[in-house]
Amino acid sequence: MHTLIPAPLSFRSESGQFRLSAETSLCAPDDLRPLAERLAASLRAAAGLPLPLREKTTGAICLALTEDDSALGDEGYRLEVRPETVKLTAARPAGLFYGIQTLRQLLPPDPRSVPPAIDACTLLDVPRFPWRGAMLDVARHFFPVEAVKRLIDQMAFYKFNILHLHLTDDQGWRLEIKSWPKLAEVGGSSATRGDPGGYYTQEEYAEIVRYAAERFITIVPEIDMPSHTQAAIAACPELKGISKYSGLYTGTEVGFCTLNIHEEITYRFIEDVFGELAALTPGPYLHIGGDEAHSTPEADYQNFIARAQQIVRQTGKQIIAWEEAAKGQLLPDTIAQYWWQADLARRAAASGNRLIMSPATQVYLDIKYNASTPLGQDWTQKYIEVQDAYDWDPAAALEGVDAALILGVEAPLWTETIATPQEADFMYFPRLCAVAEVGWTPQEGRAWEDFRRRLAAHGPRLEALGINYYRSPQIPW
Ligand code: ACM
Repeated sequence: MHTLIPAPLSFRSESGQFRLSAETSLCAPDDLRPLAERLAASLRAAAGLPLPLREKTTGAICLALTEDDSALGDEGYRLEVRPETVKLTAARPAGLFYGIQTLRQLLPPDPRSVPPAIDACTLLDVPRFPWRGAMLDVARHFFPVEAVKRLIDQMAFYKFNILHLHLTDDQGWRLEIKSWPKLAEVGGSSATRGDPGGYYTQEEYAEIVRYAAERFITIVPEIDMPSHTQAAIAACPELKGISKYSGLYTGTEVGFCTLNIHEEITYRFIEDVFGELAALTPGPYLHIGGDEAHSTPEADYQNFIARAQQIVRQTGKQIIAWEEAAKGQLLPDTIAQYWWQADLARRAAASGNRLIMSPATQVYLDIKYNASTPLGQDWTQKYIEVQDAYDWDPAAALEGVDAALILGVEAPLWTETIATPQEADFMYFPRLCAVAEVGWTPQEGRAWEDFRRRLAAHGPRLEALGINYYRSPQIPW
């Protein structure tokens, strides 16, 4: 029985073991060398061995791309572990990357304690959903570049492919915008509770994007509008934003301010900000927020969403918005992100828009595990233990919605109460392991009892990765 998370599409045990030693090499065709070098680095760390890249194929772990294996898609792979060799094949580089993550998990958690060996097996593995995401709110509390890279590494190990960065909110603006420098200089200086602020320079943001792309993770940046904009309104009075408060904000209320829907400068601002953001973001998506606009009259909100979509679509990027945007007219290719109001998510689906599933009762990972969790929120009036994050089906969670419209799953971490990477770890893990499997493994291949057993085996792996995880009493650690 394997202990892989997420569970692969198919797995068969074979007889014998592939034993790794100082002689074991990695082989890959010449055109794969740069990728093979990067994959070798993570495998070397997992195996505690030199694993040189060589031509020879016996006693080796061999990587190959195959043209004609239509079962694999863009992200699938085949892995054959035999006593003599390990063969990893994929149709695309992402598949090789995921196969390497599987090999890392097939190795012992601490290769120094035992000579590393992998039990022989045969896998065919293809993800269920193309969208397997996590979100980090870097606006309520700022997380420096190194913290984001650390999260990216954690996500890669569990085969996530999307990191949504919630870059702006009432409490802080976290990205340098050259045409509006006060956004970051002034709007970036604050954070929730009066904690230290911060922002990413454009070079730092580009570095996050690059680091993520090397791990086959797409960054989805969000600039939240028209509410959740106090930091921008305070930094740029010329926007004539409307708010219950003046100046920078460090509390945790929501929906108390709005961009000024009737001022033309608002739309120049959107053009400038999203223009710079699009130029910095090679990925195909930009997120425009749209949630909790309680201070924007309904008709204004609808006009705003329509016009904002037109402007952002001009950048050539595809738009994502929280479900509330479905109160207005969505562009045909706008993706709605479901978090709370099922009727609005259904409305988006009824007009043919695709959905990302982030139900707050299942995958809002800032919600407490139980009443005594020291961090986090409880506004949903339902705690989220590991089983709650695991035991649901994104394709069935919204009754009446065509499963073909469901792109996948994304687990947000809002950071009103979370200020450090160690605190973020505690709320993400081990629930993020559950979400990884919700996104990757077919529903019929998932079972809570089996997941509990496998997750228990990941305790030492999480420790080896330096992750400060919650020791859930549901798991036989
Ligand atoms: C949200 O939680 N306001 C999207």
